[in-house]
Amino acid sequence: MHYSESWEEVKNLVKERADIVEIIREHVDLKRSGFRYLGSCPFHQEKTPSFTVHPDQQFYHCFGCKASGDVFSFMMEYHHMEFPEALKALAQRYQVDLPEKKRSAQELEQQKRRTRMFELNMRAAEIFHTYLLEEPGAEKARLYLQKRGIPGDTQSTYKIGYAPSKELAGWNFLGSRLNGDERKLALEIGLLVSKEAGRSYDRFRDRIMCPIFDTRGQITGFGGRILGDGEPKYLNSPDSPVYNKSRLLFGLYQQKDPIRKRRKAVLVEGNFDLLSLVAQGFDYVVAPLGTALTRDQIRQLKPLVDEVVLLFDGDSAGIKAAERSVPLFLAEQISGRVAMLPEDHDPDTFIREFGVGGINDIVDGASPLPEFVLERFVERHGETLDGKFKIIEELRPLMVAVSSPIQREAMAKHFGMALNVDPGRLLAEFKPLPKTKIEKVVPAVKKKGSPGKMLGGALKSVLGFMVLHPKYFGILQQEGIEDLFAGTIGEMICLQLKVMHEQGRIQLEPEELFNELPQGEERTLVASLLTEPTLSESGDPDDNEEMLTEILSWLKRERSKKRSEQLMREIKDAEKAQNFEAINSLILEKMRVDSELKTGG
Ligand code: UTP
Ligand code: MN
Repeated sequence: MHYSESWEEVKNLVKERADIVEIIREHVDLKRSGFRYLGSCPFHQEKTPSFTVHPDQQFYHCFGCKASGDVFSFMMEYHHMEFPEALKALAQRYQVDLPEKKRSAQELEQQKRRTRMFELNMRAAEIFHTYLLEEPGAEKARLYLQKRGIPGDTQSTYKIGYAPSKELAGWNFLGSRLNGDERKLALEIGLLVSKEAGRSYDRFRDRIMCPIFDTRGQITGFGGRILGDGEPKYLNSPDSPVYNKSRLLFGLYQQKDPIRKRRKAVLVEGNFDLLSLVAQGFDYVVAPLGTALTRDQIRQLKPLVDEVVLLFDGDSAGIKAAERSVPLFLAEQISGRVAMLPEDHDPDTFIREFGVGGINDIVDGASPLPEFVLERFVERHGETLDGKFKIIEELRPLMVAVSSPIQREAMAKHFGMALNVDPGRLLAEFKPLPKTKIEKVVPAVKKKGSPGKMLGGALKSVLGFMVLHPKYFGILQQEGIEDLFAGTIGEMICLQLKVMHEQGRIQLEPEELFNELPQGEERTLVASLLTEPTLSESGDPDDNEEMLTEILSWLKRERSKKRSEQLMREIKDAEKAQNFEAINSLILEKMRVDSELKTGG
């Protein structure tokens, strides 16, 4: 019954079943060496292997960069996952059932409908695919694909199909193959479009059909390309309960393994660019669905890659797209680079002329996104004083989009140096986030009867945040977190974090904190926080940074409040002692502190 207990169970079962050697071996070449395994550390560059994996105790440790942890921390570090995500991935792999989420009847019904929609798309894809392969009428489509260099094996991994023209198959080729219920569903996912009085006809006719798979291999919708020239070039499925063009990536399902192996994905603009590259053997590639890259899409790539290379045609549309994606990469904290093809080339024509090697060279020579956009700005405006002002204005949308204070600072430094402008001035120029109430932003740690009970509202939330994100301890410490927790359950946790920090363990994960805390109520508290059911929704790192900002300004205010109270006491003492000089300077100081409090500075 107890939700959180089930998550705890999941964690224990995963720990029992998972084999750390097996998991790490997929990414690191490990050699047995006595009781342990040895390999090159995946977390830093090294010449001699210093990364060890200990099968008996199920942990890894790098003597070079000091990375260490268990299966969970490995998943989190290597795949850039939050703990709940890592837990889920391992649970799935080792066949540990997740606690049933209670769904309402309505949600269950919706889920069933979605399943039927996926099935219907799959059936349609198979009909189009079979038509392409077998029907005499599809000769034209087969020749077109041949001309575009898309061979049979690529056609079948992508389940490419042909939706026949009305001359070949009438207005109701697909519709006539469906029953009444299916037709209703087909209207909703846009396989059919409705005419007046309940009549419907095929949406896709005389087009090459590219099914769009989700990462589980379900077909969500289609992009249908016209054969040869004509308008519109593509007809796409409309957004539906199963198709969302700003979430999906064409090719991700099929190219996932090569992308994961390389820790890199190349993003091209068009479906046919992608198909052509894949057909020629360039395999770590994905394409958005005709829209600019979105944050959701970057998030899907994030667990697989360390960087994304945007491969654009040498025209200005590509440059604009690159500019817009800078804040997304910064916010997701993975690196983006831009590779430009020579003018008059797209990936398709380029690989035909220069082969896989040619594209690889272009990709290897890609420039980091921030540098790339800055160069474009300088090209556009020049480096005169006036030009610099304009460049700074262009940087504004990039800077304000980044909510992480740390990243804002990094950006200010980078752009400031390049433009020879004081980074502090840049930071001041681009206003920080609007303030909200911390209690609203930080979800309360709502464990009734947990050992955290002696802490009140905001403090409790801060403790929860610190436990879940111990890597921020250093920053919180600078803002006086220890004083705030003095005499509470948070004190021991701070102490433990401090010790770990002094050992140089800065990028801490909650698991490590948990592992090192001695038995006792603090450890119990941390365990209960780690298995909170609210955690099962994977954390958005950007929200975390936002929370951190909120907490920091809250801490500052708390300190100012305390300082103000302290000054009040000192003023009273000075009045008693009739020390007028002291009174004056104390009052001045109190006024300053109070006005800071008022303005929230
Ligand atoms: P492209 O025109 O580059 O498509 O548009 P392509 O697939 O590479 O086509 P080729 O090389 O000319 O055969 C890029 C993407 O934009 C979307 C499609 O997803 C396409 O793959 N798009 C394009 C549309 O949605 N509708 C259109 O009319 C055109
Ligand atoms: Mn193209």
